[in-house]
Amino acid sequence: MKNNQMNLEHLWMPFSANRDFKSSPRLMNAAKGMYYQKPDGSPVLDGTAGLWCCNAGHGHEKIVTAIQEQAEKMDFAPSFQMGHPLGFEAAQTLLEFAPGDEFQYAFFTNSGSEAVDTALKISMAYQQHIGHTEKTMIIGRERAYHGVGFGGITAGGLPLNKKYYTLLPGFDHICHTHNLEHNAFSNGQPEWGKHLADDLERITEKHGGDKIAAVIIEPVAGSTGVLVPPKGYLKRIRDICDAHDILLIFDEVITGFGRLGTPFAAQYFDVEPDMITCAKGLTSGTVPMGAVMVKKKMYDAFQQGDPKSIDLFHGYTYTAHPLAAAAAIASMDVYGEEGLIDRAAGMASYWEEALHSLQGVGSIIDIRTIGLMAGIEMEPRDGKIGARGYDVFTDAFHSENMLIRITGDTVALSPPLILEKKHIDQLVESLTRIIPKH
Ligand SMILES: Cc1ncc(COP(=O)(O)O)c(C=O)c1O
Repeated sequence: MKNNQMNLEHLWMPFSANRDFKSSPRLMNAAKGMYYQKPDGSPVLDGTAGLWCCNAGHGHEKIVTAIQEQAEKMDFAPSFQMGHPLGFEAAQTLLEFAPGDEFQYAFFTNSGSEAVDTALKISMAYQQHIGHTEKTMIIGRERAYHGVGFGGITAGGLPLNKKYYTLLPGFDHICHTHNLEHNAFSNGQPEWGKHLADDLERITEKHGGDKIAAVIIEPVAGSTGVLVPPKGYLKRIRDICDAHDILLIFDEVITGFGRLGTPFAAQYFDVEPDMITCAKGLTSGTVPMGAVMVKKKMYDAFQQGDPKSIDLFHGYTYTAHPLAAAAAIASMDVYGEEGLIDRAAGMASYWEEALHSLQGVGSIIDIRTIGLMAGIEMEPRDGKIGARGYDVFTDAFHSENMLIRITGDTVALSPPLILEKKHIDQLVESLTRIIPKH
């Protein structure tokens, strides 16, 4: 650092208003448990588990120690045609969290975006391997977020993330489920909206079910502002996929590892997909890592012909990186040993009730809750979508010492699973103070 002066200019921050940030920075330099710390030492309550990641809370000793010890023992191991024990152990540990008993393989990546692109590629290659040569299309959903790779933005449904880019061919989208007229202030799954799953029938008629390789869906759409699936919706999607031999991929990057009080959303909704993507909570946010969980029948389809030839031409230099694998095993051990997933389930009703008490406050037009997730939607200011949200977000940090997440004009909350009732009360009190100001 030249002249010992911190210069904020040279980092191009992701998904950020760089100029505004640099004129009024929001910095945190330490974290423990439920709190971050500002450089001046003041604690910042973490209402978002970092970025939907740190489910075990910050600085958990067991996870920190596992990473430290692994860094000393072996820094890196190549993952192509080579292996190290922790990669295999991490896969086995992860699969214990999967629904049913058919998920028997895990492919590791370094992020949710890579997990999504990996899942899309595996689904397309699988259809070819089993002779469904015409099944090449991928179906996503409006308003979906599947990361920032070309597969992810094309399958996703957020227009600003696609603007300026040449998207991939062979993708289409079903409609989203958000409807304020019918579903506003639903606590848990809305009663209305199962029929929206039938939009997948429209798509299969439009293209032919025999042309579609896979449907990818976030069980609860997170980044677009916490859209909870209506009752029966996901089961109907599953049934339509089955009727047309279409693979169903659940993108559980946000919902994995206890966010809904079950290991994955698949168990919460009792709907079993064919593939699951995850990341974030996999290492409790400590070291970048993502994964795709795959059923045995799919893996087996790739294990044909010469056993000395590569079965999937895909992978990353850092696949199953030793530090990430150590962090993942330790994080998943913590979820199990400390009962954090059950803890989330136990805390959900207090969470939901507390958040719904905000109904009527300021500009709030909808509150959506499920498990330890919440979306609080505010009326956009005239012609300026996102402006109110941004002001609430910066005010939360500067005047309430609270980290929240904003997507458009929706406050999205997803705290670490270790939170206590007092933290929920603090979040709700702060929001009650700042939302009416904007
Ligand atoms: C559902 C979903 N998929 C994929 C991603 C992308 O993950 P990453 O930012 O780790 O690439 C996210 C990130 O929030 C996500 O919510």
